[in-house]
Amino acid sequence: MIEISDSLIDTLKNSESIVFFTGAGISAESGIATFRGKEGLWNKFKPEELANFDAFMRNPELVWEWYNYRRRIVHEAKPNAAHLTIAKMQNHFKDVTVVTQNVDNLHRRAGSKKIFELHGNIEKNYCINCKKDFNEELDFSSGVPKCDCGGLIRPGVVWFGEFLPEDQYLGGEKAAMNAEVFFVVGTSAVVYPAAGLVYTAKASGATIVEINIEETEISSSVNYSYFGKAGEILPKIFEEYKLRV
Ligand code: APR
Repeated sequence: MIEISDSLIDTLKNSESIVFFTGAGISAESGIATFRGKEGLWNKFKPEELANFDAFMRNPELVWEWYNYRRRIVHEAKPNAAHLTIAKMQNHFKDVTVVTQNVDNLHRRAGSKKIFELHGNIEKNYCINCKKDFNEELDFSSGVPKCDCGGLIRPGVVWFGEFLPEDQYLGGEKAAMNAEVFFVVGTSAVVYPAAGLVYTAKASGATIVEINIEETEISSSVNYSYFGKAGEILPKIFEEYKLRV
């Protein structure tokens, strides 16, 4: 039975700016596979064949087949108690920001308002040539869809070796620098520059709270670690907080 420490609740009671830095683990309880770990996607699929630009240019059909498979899973998924708790906390704290590595849109569907998507969004698409957005349902009846300029349309996610969307990264970085409490939820914290935001928040004096089913790269650098499922621990922290404000 996980005990939430009094000092964390006290810190929350004296805080206005809360940031949730999330990864694939927060969506695991919604039925969306994580990337690493035993059942991780990267144990079944090769990122070098599916999640980088050269692979897309070599075989756009294969890459789209995979993203359309993942889209179906995301569409069938529902936000879980962890996503919903973060959204609820917006009514209890002055400034709640989500900085996510996830492309699954579940934070938005849970009702979170202030979200920075560091690795893009699987619901979005754009032309590789003119960058025009195509966020409506795409027609694959005559193969990989093309833009009016002739360019291939690709999923709006960040692939390995690509830069993060600058506005999203700068927004996440600013949130990390202003955070009083910085939750790190369901991420292995091995992918940079995203994972670097944990140290940005720490260097700016934030209290770092890790929630993960197991130890990670950052466990030795945080103030509080809760090892268990995000969908169980986040609601518990919030309940404890509400009991004592
Ligand atoms: N609750 C909390 N943590 C969980 C849960 C859960 N229910 N289930 C799994 N986890 C943890 C795992 O222990 C692991 O540490 O979530 C983490 C998921 O890590 P990864 O699979 O590495 O996912 P993530 O950190 O989001 O990956 C970062 O890598 O593949 C790229 O672009 C992709 O955004 C992704 C980035």
